[in-house]
Amino acid sequence: MSKYQFKESDIYLPDSDIPRNRLGIETPDLLHEIESTLLQQAYHRFITELSPATRFDESYFKTLHRDTYETLYEWAGLYRTVDMSKGSSLFCRAAYLEREARNIFHELEQEQYLKQAAQWATEKFSERLAHYQSELIALHPFYELNGRITRMFFDLIAVYNGYEPVDYSHALATGPSGLNAYIDASILCVQQGDNSKLQKIISQGLHKT
Ligand SMILES: Nc1ncnc2c1ncn2[C@@H]1O[C@H](COP(=O)(O)OP(=O)(O)O)[C@@H](O)[C@H]1O
Ligand SMILES: [Mg+2]
Repeated sequence: MSKYQFKESDIYLPDSDIPRNRLGIETPDLLHEIESTLLQQAYHRFITELSPATRFDESYFKTLHRDTYETLYEWAGLYRTVDMSKGSSLFCRAAYLEREARNIFHELEQEQYLKQAAQWATEKFSERLAHYQSELIALHPFYELNGRITRMFFDLIAVYNGYEPVDYSHALATGPSGLNAYIDASILCVQQGDNSKLQKIISQGLHKT
């Protein structure tokens, strides 16, 4: 059990989806702008730091979340201890989260963290990226910023293997329903264990440098 416990009410300002933050910001636009700057800086830093010694393991995954957002959020890098859902999707129960995460990252380790993918056909690489990304989408381990950190994690694996970060711009463009293709694909992953839509998105956005 983590020594840090947060209830959902500790995470968000009352009656809002704005996370409480260390800078006391209550304006969504400003907060989004700062989150976006921090993410860009993190991409730059983590891409620069990639080396043959990089292990895309669970501690690396948590470090991405912590180092990117710790100036803003107390819970950066910490797994949630409450159950969470979005729409009609229930993510991994908090009670099973640590065990599930260990299983996923163990499987990734068995596959050498996909560090040999530069030698694979792009289709095979997108299939493996979709497999693991789907698992982490269903895990939804952090209180917030799961989407961005999960995509960054796999972008770093892509860059390591001589690809550009995956281009999700079409999939993330919001449609009239307020949803987007990435969320549609995530719903399929979480509710049906089907990553076919996600694989299509990744395969369309994956390009060699
Ligand atoms: N209705 C849903 N069903 C399943 N997964 C969803 C749903 N809505 C969003 N998601 C997943 O949750 C992610 C968003 O989680 P969140 O922690 O808010 O991250 P971020 O703030 O970076 O978008 C999305 O990228 C998507 O993968
Ligand atoms: Mg969010």
